[in-house]
Amino acid sequence: MKQGMWFPFELENNIKERFWYPDADPTLGKRLFFDNAGGSLRLKTCVEAKAEYEYFPDCPERTHRRGVMLKEVVNRGTKEILEIVFGAKEGALITELTASQTMFHMVELVMENIPGTNAVVSCLEHPSAFDAVDYFCRKTGKELRVVPANPKTGQIEPETVAEFVDENTCLVSIMAASNVTGAIMDIEKIVKLVRNKKPDLYVICDGVQHAPHGKMDVSASGVDGMNFAPYKCFGVRGCGFAYVSDRLAKLPHRKLIKKDKTVFELGTPSPGNFAATMEMINYVCEIGSYSKKEADKKEQFREGMNRIHLKEQALLHRLLEGTEDIPGLRHIPGVTVFADGLELSDRDLIVAMGIDGLEPQDAVKAYEAKGVIVCDRLITSMYAKRSMEALNLSGCLRISPMHCHGKEDIDAFLKVTQEIAKDRA
Ligand SMILES: Cc1ncc(COP(=O)(O)O)c(C=O)c1O
Repeated sequence: MKQGMWFPFELENNIKERFWYPDADPTLGKRLFFDNAGGSLRLKTCVEAKAEYEYFPDCPERTHRRGVMLKEVVNRGTKEILEIVFGAKEGALITELTASQTMFHMVELVMENIPGTNAVVSCLEHPSAFDAVDYFCRKTGKELRVVPANPKTGQIEPETVAEFVDENTCLVSIMAASNVTGAIMDIEKIVKLVRNKKPDLYVICDGVQHAPHGKMDVSASGVDGMNFAPYKCFGVRGCGFAYVSDRLAKLPHRKLIKKDKTVFELGTPSPGNFAATMEMINYVCEIGSYSKKEADKKEQFREGMNRIHLKEQALLHRLLEGTEDIPGLRHIPGVTVFADGLELSDRDLIVAMGIDGLEPQDAVKAYEAKGVIVCDRLITSMYAKRSMEALNLSGCLRISPMHCHGKEDIDAFLKVTQEIAKDRA
């Protein structure tokens, strides 16, 4: 288990068929897609469900049969996203066009309504989370406190977060997993330690990069808000979802006056986005059903995410250690894996690496020439600057396969890496 676990044979063999373009771009040809952290391979069922519901002209607010059916999809989708994806027992759903918008919305709610003189955020946050806190600190005259990362592990340590909190802290916002190194943060412990210092403290979590790799459980962690982006989680673009706790949902926010206090919906919802996300849920439940046939959907989803995490651990182990036939990244001369200090179980399937003598942006081109899509993260980019500084790097390559990839994909990637590193030696 320490080195992960493969899916059952039958599932392993057919899984790629469930996705669009797993091995080739339809017009550009064969390629290995290892940039899933930028937008994951899409499930066919999600894309089809979105399209299917876009065909209907009917308004989900009407009382005729089709209108009622469309509304039912939105209601069921809202309930499943809250209870199954986020593991919520109460609270409300914020829906926007992107995950970034949901983050700004959650941060605004706390910062505009809760007293305090400072807000705490980690240095690793994506700009959508960091800038949201920075923006509302400036707007409300609060002090911005930035928690450093452990450069060896790429983690934000709970004890360090707690050191930045005092009785005047209004908000803590920490991501669930790094979008550069895959380091998983111990959100449960962070919430516990910061609430030891201030029991009613509001804590928000960016779940975007963790959602496709492992379960999110807002009722276990006790966070007040958490978001995810379906397009990074096998689903579709054009929507971002966030859970908000009851107490956060009840704070004054932009809404239609006559609607209930905890309603965030503004305007006509898009049933297709909910239908697509429910297909993602069904898919993960199906994976869970291999070992939990009789369980309910919530339990099957948890198990499905658990199996995805274990399978990705097995892929990560192979990527780092290799096999008898091919060395892993840790063993290829000229290759360095950054922030490589965590147990595999504390990492999502995202690796930051470098190749001696090759700038990351040139490495991206070298990989593409050999049919592999990866991404660079550079200190000169507003999206990566703070993460690079935290890891003492000027840039790196980000490698992000996903659970539908197989051993042969990892081996093919290692072979290409070996060739590129050799060319530079
Ligand atoms: C950790 C993290 N949070 C938030 C986002 C923002 O997602 P979106 O662009 O969908 O708003 C990203 C996107 O890369 C991300 O990696």
